[in-house]
Amino acid sequence: MKIQAIDTLAADWSGEYLGIGLFEEAAAIDAYLQQLDPNLRDVLQDLIRETEFQGKSGEQPWTRIAGQGTIRKVMLMGLGAQEAFTLESLRQAAAAFAKATRKQKAAAAGLQLPLWNDDVSASTQAMAEGVELALHQDNRFKSDPEAQKSGEYPQAIHLLGMANQDDAIETAQQICAGVILTRELVAAPANVATPSMLAETAADIAADHGLTLEVLEREDCEAQGMGAFLGVALASDLPPKFIHLTYKPSGTPRRKLAIVGKGVTFDSGGLNLKVSGSGIETMKMDMAGSGATLGAAKAIGQLKPDVEVHFIVAAAENMISGHALHPGDILTASNGKTIEINNTDAEGRLTLADALVFAEKQGVDAIVDLATLTGACIVALGNDIAGMWTPEDSLAEELTQASQQAGEKFWRMPLEDKYFEGLKSPIADMKNTGPRPGGSITAALFLQQYIDQTPWAHLDVAGPVWTEKENGYLNVGATGFAVRTLVNWVMK
Ligand code: BES
Ligand code: MN
Ligand code: ZN
Repeated sequence: MKIQAIDTLAADWSGEYLGIGLFEEAAAIDAYLQQLDPNLRDVLQDLIRETEFQGKSGEQPWTRIAGQGTIRKVMLMGLGAQEAFTLESLRQAAAAFAKATRKQKAAAAGLQLPLWNDDVSASTQAMAEGVELALHQDNRFKSDPEAQKSGEYPQAIHLLGMANQDDAIETAQQICAGVILTRELVAAPANVATPSMLAETAADIAADHGLTLEVLEREDCEAQGMGAFLGVALASDLPPKFIHLTYKPSGTPRRKLAIVGKGVTFDSGGLNLKVSGSGIETMKMDMAGSGATLGAAKAIGQLKPDVEVHFIVAAAENMISGHALHPGDILTASNGKTIEINNTDAEGRLTLADALVFAEKQGVDAIVDLATLTGACIVALGNDIAGMWTPEDSLAEELTQASQQAGEKFWRMPLEDKYFEGLKSPIADMKNTGPRPGGSITAALFLQQYIDQTPWAHLDVAGPVWTEKENGYLNVGATGFAVRTLVNWVMK
């Protein structure tokens, strides 16, 4: 499938399939129809009448066109109120069009949508993202992957009225390659996406896009005193891998950043084993933070900003065996702080503790961590919204802007110091688990103990990294959440 930007407008489009996006205003719809050829205009006026189309978002009626013209089918896409129009509206409309043209086996399809903010390149990029992400299908685990594919349709999507936008399309494709890598890492089961496989994926990214890679083995982590991370890895037969990928621009970097992702490739809970009903069967996705980190690395390696970025993943499996961490064990993290393990299922924060200490040693200007850290965050914000914790208003502002541009939802949550009382241990510096109320907040306060002075934000992405229902450009399963927010944040 090819995406192409061309300056032809809907009125002159002669391909097989045409898509037109319209705002929710009768007069504007009417004015738009007046510039089309009379045959097409009549067809659309009938369609609008018959389907009571009002331009509300989600309305997507289509019809066949009889007659001599080359256009065989046309689809209208409601874009909602013009005041509420965003880049995300463009992504969603383009995604709906891409899916319809695939289902209907269109060869050439032309899509005309209005510009957001008069910005041709941002608008083109958003449309291309919607198309790429909507059409991604993951058939790797079917015995006959080819048979599962919905053919080669649509053969091409032309973005109408968008001349000279090849760069915007290429940017979208580079970013989407990162998002798709993330989706495929997160969807891959724990017997495929192991800590070693994450390290190999990082090696591929390094080789393909010119990043440097350092992988710390268990002994190297021991030498660095990473007792918290290694405690989590104790019971697994799979060796832990501490992954450090670095992107350096050719000139002097404008900024140095670190992105740290939770990489627990399977979370059984450990000896505090996840009971039936706790979602243990979905815990292959407990490396979604690291999935997004590697996806962002792939995108940034291609986009080549003038910013240095360190991508850090402490990858391990949380399992049970005779070697397992016992509840009550005390671990020492690489910053010297001691932790009483009162729950082996609060393992993500242990892996992140050493990863954050390592990130800070890189001398960066800001650190962002992403983790499927707590069920409590899903209870608080539901499946579509991630939690954000940071003491730094300016970093919160940067991330919020990046996420809004990406159409990914985050909500800033409080780092309530007083709740740290819930983590006090009579025997060690802290426990790893606080009381049930405010569980995602105490998790964030725990992480904060491993940051000394660098501006830092923690993103709890437990909800939005996975979806059980198809929704716009998201297909069932791994969503690739946070990659586009991270990319926007780095590029800004
Ligand atoms: N990986 C889980 C959090 C999680 C739960 C992610 C559901 C996605 C969906 C994490 O390691 C965990 O087990 N957290 C515990 C913490 C508790 C023991 C303090 C939780 O949320 O129950
Ligand atoms: Mn857990
Ligand atoms: Zn976990």
